[in-house]
Amino acid sequence: MKTLILISIMILSLAACNNGGSGNNKSGSETTTDSTKGSSVRRETWGTVDGKEVYLFTLTSQNGFEAKISNYGGLITSLKVPGRDGTANIVLGFDSLKGYLQKDVPYFGALIGRYGNRIAKGRFTLRDEAFTLAVNNGENHLHGGLKGFDKVVWDATPVEDASNPGLELKYLSKDGEEGYAGNLNVTVRYTLTAQNELQVEYDATTDKATPVNLTQHSYFNLTGDPSKDILEHTLTINADKYTPVDKGLIPTGELKDVKGTPFDFTTPHKIGERIAKVEGGYDHNWVLNKATDPMRLVATLADSASGRKIEVYTTEPGLQFYSGNFLDGTLAGSDGKPFNKHAGLCLETQHFPNSPNQPSFPSTVLQPGDKYHTITKYKLITQ
Ligand code: GAL
Repeated sequence: MKTLILISIMILSLAACNNGGSGNNKSGSETTTDSTKGSSVRRETWGTVDGKEVYLFTLTSQNGFEAKISNYGGLITSLKVPGRDGTANIVLGFDSLKGYLQKDVPYFGALIGRYGNRIAKGRFTLRDEAFTLAVNNGENHLHGGLKGFDKVVWDATPVEDASNPGLELKYLSKDGEEGYAGNLNVTVRYTLTAQNELQVEYDATTDKATPVNLTQHSYFNLTGDPSKDILEHTLTINADKYTPVDKGLIPTGELKDVKGTPFDFTTPHKIGERIAKVEGGYDHNWVLNKATDPMRLVATLADSASGRKIEVYTTEPGLQFYSGNFLDGTLAGSDGKPFNKHAGLCLETQHFPNSPNQPSFPSTVLQPGDKYHTITKYKLITQ
């Protein structure tokens, strides 16, 4: 029988506390440790937003992998992975809540909802009812609107599983929020598994029909140094087709073959190899190939210099590969180094953009009584 010894330690005075823009002065941290295996979930106070407590949780796995996650926006602020050059943080982000409260932070590490990616003109019709959503990207609705799930405070509960430390986040998106119908109860569970995976499990239910498309918006840079760009990273995407877009990055509706185009990542290619042939850089949705197991390997990202590699597994039908084209050095990390163009890249598992207006795309509509459930895993590998 598995014997677990869980020790909760309250450290009230010694803990580091980074106050946010609207931060408070309380300091404190709480650690749940499994002394038999060495995994832990530590909680520190990070500030307040909308009058609610914001925390930073540090999940440490028995193999020493570490993820820092906040209940503000469900942000992954740091993900430490060993490489040939030592252990490094492979996601873009900030050390303090204040960093994330700056203007126009481009969803660094955030949970995205109610609808990841774009809905054209913020409009769609569901059973003859027309909906108008908040418009926040030119004439379009992007990543849930003006105040998406990336800007709200979630209720957080550490998951005390000895082998797989985790964090469960819950948020009730109210009927009418950002123009969407229905009270949507969302649960996202992050787990750092004993197999060195960061797993993200999304669940939701609603009381009125609504589109739902949840994703995670981490920007990866496997070198661990965001002053280096990601153009030397090698990418594989198991997709024979992608969804071409118009000038506003809205899919035209066509599913186009990648073969013979710079979108063909069915075999490994360096990101920089053909990027100049793609106007604006990569910012497209790939139509992921299906497999017998709905949870299949869909993409691999590798940096040969450090030996760090990520395998992405998901149940989702699509993947947005965004090569950080809009990063322009305006924002800098906590070490003062600017986040320049291509300082990081996103691999957003998702349904296709603008699905509510494209009947030929897989449906994103969640009906009352139905359960939204998707899983995405990032397997962290050192070669
Ligand atoms: C991505 C999206 C890009 C850009 C970015 C945020 O998910 O595909 O077009 O909006 O988010 O800057």
